[in-house]
Amino acid sequence: MSDPILSVSGLKVSYGPITAVAGVDIEVGRGEFVGVIGSNGAGKSSAMRAISGVLAPAGGAIRFDGADVTRRKSHEMVALGLAMVPEGRMIFGDQTVRENLLLGGFSRVMRSDPEVEDDIERALELFPRLRERLGQMAGSLSGGEQQMLAIARGLISRPKLLVVDELSLGLAPKILDLLFPILADLNAKGLSILLVEQMASYALAVTQRTYVMENGRVLFSGPSAELAEDDRVLDAYLGRKH
Ligand SMILES: Nc1ncnc2c1ncn2[C@@H]1O[C@H](COP(=O)(O)OP(=O)(O)OP(=O)(O)O)[C@@H](O)[C@H]1O
Ligand SMILES: [Mg+2]
Repeated sequence: MSDPILSVSGLKVSYGPITAVAGVDIEVGRGEFVGVIGSNGAGKSSAMRAISGVLAPAGGAIRFDGADVTRRKSHEMVALGLAMVPEGRMIFGDQTVRENLLLGGFSRVMRSDPEVEDDIERALELFPRLRERLGQMAGSLSGGEQQMLAIARGLISRPKLLVVDELSLGLAPKILDLLFPILADLNAKGLSILLVEQMASYALAVTQRTYVMENGRVLFSGPSAELAEDDRVLDAYLGRKH
């Protein structure tokens, strides 16, 4: 791939003696929508935490937007244009929706950037349900609304790449049918997206390419449309009955 937005090679992540990611290569092209699927404990979140600078990798290299960012911290990654919507959303429940959104624009608010208000307005156009709830404590939002807030907060930093870890976590199909098309729309408008997703059928339908992770490694990868018909995927992740 020529000049990808993200290029991860030989990534390793350890927690003390536990190796969670044992040498993973992942690329995201500019404007591409890429998925990562795999069972519980495969190392997906650990890989995303290393990519977004939340934890330091034990090995390998991460390049983002043409630069080596292997040892960059998460706030530096946000400033460079990588926003992460973490597993479990990690919104601040005792702060209002608006305060949570402002935190997404943190580095820019600190520069009293008036454009942050425009960014919030754009996010609210994408998620009108948040507008009615701007003054509400984020902890009192429904699960689906909290996920909307987590995505909106990520978008406020004007990312080039949005990393989403488990969009579907704990959410009903009805809300997923609303959220997945929003990601597809953002991608259609040019945003590169890396999506980790347990609900393989949703991920394969919306992404262009998919990596399958197990035991800290990429087992295989390919165009999502092809993997959706691949026996290995059908058996292990789409619940095909024999
Ligand atoms: N903070 C931590 N301390 C120790 N071990 C951890 C920690 N976080 C994850 N692990 C271990 O690393 C491995 C990979 O976990 P990880 O959360 O990355 O998997 P995952 O693919 O995201 O799983 P899931 O689909 O359940 O979210 C697991 O064996 C897990 O127990
Ligand atoms: Mg995870």
